[in-house]
Amino acid sequence: ISSELKSSNGHLVIGGVDSVELAHEYGTPLVVYDVEQIRQTINSFRASFEQSGFKYEISYASKAFATVAMYQVLKQEHLHTDVVSGGELFTALKAGFPADKISFHGNNKSLEELEMAVDNHIGVVIIDNFYEIELLEKVLNEKNASINVMLRLTPGISAHTHKYDQTGQVDSKFGFDVESGQAEKALQLVLKNSNMNLIGIHAHIGSQIFGIEGFTMLAHKMVEISNDWHQKYDFTPQVLNLGGGFGISYTSEDEPIGADVFIKQITKVVKKDAQKDGLSLPEIWIEPGRSIVGPAGYNLYTIGSHKDIPNLKSYINVDGGMGDNIRPALYQAKYEAVVANKMDAKLTQDVHVSGKYCESGDILIDSVQLPDVVPGDVLAMLDTGAYGYSMASNYNRNPRPAVVFAEGGKAKLVVKRESFEDLTKLDLDYL
Ligand code: LLP
Repeated sequence: ISSELKSSNGHLVIGGVDSVELAHEYGTPLVVYDVEQIRQTINSFRASFEQSGFKYEISYASKAFATVAMYQVLKQEHLHTDVVSGGELFTALKAGFPADKISFHGNNKSLEELEMAVDNHIGVVIIDNFYEIELLEKVLNEKNASINVMLRLTPGISAHTHKYDQTGQVDSKFGFDVESGQAEKALQLVLKNSNMNLIGIHAHIGSQIFGIEGFTMLAHKMVEISNDWHQKYDFTPQVLNLGGGFGISYTSEDEPIGADVFIKQITKVVKKDAQKDGLSLPEIWIEPGRSIVGPAGYNLYTIGSHKDIPNLKSYINVDGGMGDNIRPALYQAKYEAVVANKMDAKLTQDVHVSGKYCESGDILIDSVQLPDVVPGDVLAMLDTGAYGYSMASNYNRNPRPAVVFAEGGKAKLVVKRESFEDLTKLDLDYL
């Protein structure tokens, strides 16, 4: 959020680079990532785990932002990653990301996607449902192959967050329900299958979570399930994967408690419960997406027209909008913004920032304090790094923005801006 920004000569600085120069060089809308910040976040997660004494893996949830360059940074940082589609898997492999550090998620993986996973020897398939057990069995039999799997469980724990962001509650579309015995049935099927090497269990309770309670309950539950399965089936999950969801601060209203606190709590609960039950300590995996890339991303726009409705409101219009960031329209997500070329100017007005899309809902920010602005000023929306570019569309036939990585005072273009030609590249004549 805005209190943590760096500036120099009145210009917003990202990864040591003048953001206004970036906007001029690469055009807008432009997505810029501070790669140093991504690395720092990863290191701070590691530090929390190192203190706990647990074996662990941090598996970046790449749906938050998945491009070749991002997978390359992850590879350099020796992280795991999770993918949720053939497209993400393809991108990771193309980036040279090690297949054995990839987990494959999804509630309706296709035969082709499972074949791709098996052919490329990925690290683990996180099985979501009974149909997937059948499909995977078929693929493994045909190829005479084997693969590591985890079972995705629905633990009946719901995180207090936007309803689209809840995933662990009993009526969720994801995973095997624990209470009704589905999870146990899945366990029996997988244990019987010698081509599937069951390494652990997974649960994800939601996204943009602020409270500790959900993770505390989940940690208890996962050990309880482990103990139950240990007693009944002599099977003890080696990995407890507790998913992602650590909340970040988009505006001053948000009060995230910090991933280190989540990690400390999870490891404390698992250690205590496992010792109580006489189980050996499992590995703990987490799958953070938003918390790794969200705060490190900025969307830069050029300010154009404006509309003042006397005594009511003022709109400032920018050259992007719901096509490069659907979150305000879809989740009523709030953001802060600054004028990147007027960082030292006095804030003089409260405005609505609206996009250029032909839809009334295309409001990027409902209320933000800005200095006086003129067309050509550069607006920087903050904390846009997660689920912004990755959810971008070509609505209204607007090309998707370019993406730049900035680090140590240097900037590198990592995704080209789409061109009008790109937009029609797949279109075919009818007449
Ligand atoms: N693991 C699983 C199984 C997930 O489904 C997700 C997110 C994550 C990890 C990562 O969660 P994170 O750490 O990023 O909160 N588009 C929505 C968020 C959807 C999240 C979907 N699953 C948004 O923009 O808020």
